[in-house]
Amino acid sequence: MSDVVTVEIVGNAGLVAIDSPPVNAAGVAVRSGLFDAVTQLEANDAVSVIAIYAKGRTFIAGADIREFGKPPQEPGLGAVCGKLENCSKPVISILHGTPLGGGLEVAFSTHARVGIAGVRVGLPEVLLGILPGAGGTQRAPRLIGVDAAMEMITSGRHIPTAEAKELGLIDSIESGDPRDVAIASAEAVTNGTLATRRTCDVKVEVSDEIVASWKAKIEAKFPNLFSPHRCVEAVAASALPIDEGLKEERRLFMQCMDSPQRSGLIHAFFSERAVQKVPEAKETPRDIAAMAVIGGGTMGSGITTSALMAGLSVKLMERNDEAVEHARKTITGNLDGGVKRGKMKQEVRDDILNNKLTFTTDIAALDEADLIIEAVFEEMPIKKDIFTQLDKIAKPGAILASNTSYLDVNEIASATSRPQDVLGLHFFSPAHIMRLLEVIAAEKTAPEVTATGFALAKKLKKVGVRSEVCDGFIGNRILAHYRRVVDYMYMDGADFEQVDKALEAFGFAMGPFAVSDLAGLDIGWATRKRLAKTRSNRERVVDISDRICENGWFGRKTGKGFYVYDGKNRSVNPEIKAIEDSERAAAGVTPRNFTDEEIVDRYMTAMISEAARVVDDGTALRPIDVDAVFLFGYGFPRFRGGPLHYADTIGAQTLIDRIETYAKEDDYYWQVPDILRRMANDGSTFGDLN
Ligand code: 3HC
Repeated sequence: MSDVVTVEIVGNAGLVAIDSPPVNAAGVAVRSGLFDAVTQLEANDAVSVIAIYAKGRTFIAGADIREFGKPPQEPGLGAVCGKLENCSKPVISILHGTPLGGGLEVAFSTHARVGIAGVRVGLPEVLLGILPGAGGTQRAPRLIGVDAAMEMITSGRHIPTAEAKELGLIDSIESGDPRDVAIASAEAVTNGTLATRRTCDVKVEVSDEIVASWKAKIEAKFPNLFSPHRCVEAVAASALPIDEGLKEERRLFMQCMDSPQRSGLIHAFFSERAVQKVPEAKETPRDIAAMAVIGGGTMGSGITTSALMAGLSVKLMERNDEAVEHARKTITGNLDGGVKRGKMKQEVRDDILNNKLTFTTDIAALDEADLIIEAVFEEMPIKKDIFTQLDKIAKPGAILASNTSYLDVNEIASATSRPQDVLGLHFFSPAHIMRLLEVIAAEKTAPEVTATGFALAKKLKKVGVRSEVCDGFIGNRILAHYRRVVDYMYMDGADFEQVDKALEAFGFAMGPFAVSDLAGLDIGWATRKRLAKTRSNRERVVDISDRICENGWFGRKTGKGFYVYDGKNRSVNPEIKAIEDSERAAAGVTPRNFTDEEIVDRYMTAMISEAARVVDDGTALRPIDVDAVFLFGYGFPRFRGGPLHYADTIGAQTLIDRIETYAKEDDYYWQVPDILRRMANDGSTFGDLN
C-alpha cells in the first residue's frame, strides 16, 4: 500500500496500520497512505468496518511540524479527515500513546474512538502559535461542548484517559496491543456493542455569552499572543454548518501560519530537543542512583528537591545540625508546594521525607555517592577546599559537580587528582521549578561525564544545555553584558518603570528593574564590587543602584527597592527620584526621553551582541542552544523563539547599523561582533548555523 500505511483484512474488518517512527506524525506519506487505504477498503465488498491504529509508541502525534513553512503537499490533513468522516462504512480509531493535534483530529473524523488505557489526548496547536487546522475546532465542540472545547484548545493541555472518556473525547477504554484492540473493536461495531456516528452530524449549541466570556478570559491571560484569540474565534464558528465552519477555521489557521509567533514557538519546541544533540550524546552515561548534595541553602535545597521529585535518593551534607534543620525545612516546604500545585501526591511526599532523603554533617559519609553536587558559596577557595576533600573520600568513578554560576570549573577541577570526573551543573533558582540546567564541560571532563550531566537533566525533566567554561557560562555571561545597557539608558534619562513596562510589553514576564528587586539588589551590588577590580577604565560605570543599596533597600526582601511592595502590587519607590537626580547631575548628564521602541531595540541589540559572541567563540554549540538557555532559564518570551531566532527576524545588517549608531556614544560597549559582519557579507543567518 505504502511504506508507512498498510492494510490488512481480518474477517470483515479492514485494518489500517500507520507505522512512521518516531511519533507517526501525519506527514505527506501518512496522509496519502491513509487516504488511499480508506478509498481501497471502502470499495472492497468483503469489508464492512474499517479500524485505524498505529504501531510504535503512539497513534499520530500531530501534523508533521517539519513541513510547516514549506509548500503544502496534497492531500492536506483536512481532506483526509473529510474522507474518513464521509466514508460510507463505519470507520473507528484505536488510540494509544499521545494522539495530539492533527492525530486527534483524524480520530475526531472517525465514527468512534477507542482509547487504550494510558492514552493522553490533546490539541496542543496553540502552544505552537497555530490552531487545530484539520477540523478540530469544529468537531471538538460537537463532541464535548463549546466550553470544554474552548478550554482544551486554548490551553493545549494533555488530557488523561479517564477524563478523555468523561468528556466524550473517547467512547471506550480498552487495554492491550493496538492491533488486537482494533480487531476486537471492529467486532464490537459489527455486533452493535460499539456505537458509531459521524461527528459532523452532532448538533452544537454556541451562545453569545459563552463566546464573550472566553474572549475576555483570553484577552486577560494572553494579551501578547496571537493564536489563542484565533482559537476562540474558530470554536465560535462551530455554530455554523460544518462546511462553513471548516472554511472559517482554515482562514484563521492560515493567519496563524503566517504570523511570526508561529515560527518563534515552533523554534522553541525544536530547541528543547536540539540541545540534546551534543558530541557526547553517543557515550553511555554513568550510573547515578545514589546522589549527594553539599550545601542546603536555597540552591542546594532546590537541587535536592528536584532530584527527590524525580525519584532519586539524596544525601545532603551541611556544616552543622542547625544548618541541616534549616535545609530540611526548606526541602519540606518545597515538597509541600509540589503537593499543593498537584505535582505530587501526599503519600509520595511522605515517602520521600521518610525514605529517600538523608542528612549528614560529615563529608566522609558521601563515599558511596555516584554523583556529588556542590552548592556552597561562590568563593573559589571554599569550592577548591571542598573538591580537595571530595577527591580523598569519593569512590572511584564518582562524578563531582559544581553548581557554580560563573567560576572557572577548570580551576575547581584542578583541586582534584581526577579532573576527568569533574563538571559544572548550573541550576537556576528555584532549582526545583526552573527547567534550565547548564551542563559545563571543562577542559578535562570525560565525555561520558558530560553525557551523564545530560542524562541527569532528562531524569529531572530539565532542559540540559552544553556550555564551555567562561565567566558566567552562556546565560549569566550574556546577562552581565545586556544588563549594563539598562543602567546606561537609566542614567541617560530613561524612566525605570517605563523600561520595565516596555520590556514587559515585548513579552518578558518581568522588566529588568523588577527582576533586580526580586533577585535582591545586593546581589548585583556584590557582583559589581567583584568585577570592579578587573574593569577596563574605558568601561562606563553607573552607580545609581549602588546608592539605592546603601540605603539598605535590597528589593522585595526588604519591602523596598526600585518599587515598594504591597502584597503582589508594586508601585514606584518615591524616594528614588532624588537619588536619580543627584547621580545624573554628578555625572553631568542632561536626562533625555527614550521611546519604548528605542528601549527594546537597545536592550535586544545588546543581548544579541553578546549572544553572537558566545556562539562565535564556541561557548555555546549553536545559536539554538543560546535560545534554549533564555527560553528555559531567563523568561524570554517563547513566542519570539529566543534572542538569536529573534535576531534573524531583524537581520544582521540592521543590527550592525544599530550598533554603529549607538557606538557614537560609547564605542567600548557597542562593538560589532565579527560573526554579524560575516553574516551580513554572505547573507547567512543564525538559523543556518543550527
Ligand atoms: N512533527 C514532526 N516531528 C515531531 C513531531 C511532529 N508533530 N512531534 C515530535 N516530533 C519529533 C521530535 O522533534 C523528536 O525528533 P528528534 O528525535 O529528531 O529530536 C521526535 O519526534 C521524538 O519527540 P520527543 O523527543 O518529543 O518524544 P517524546 O516521547 O518525549 O514526546 C510527544 C512525544 C508528546 C508526541 C512530543 O514529541 C510532542 O509533544 N510533539 C508535538 C505534538 C504536537 O504539537 N502536535 C500538534 C502538531 S500541529 C498539528 O497537528 C496541526 C494540525 O492541526 C493541522
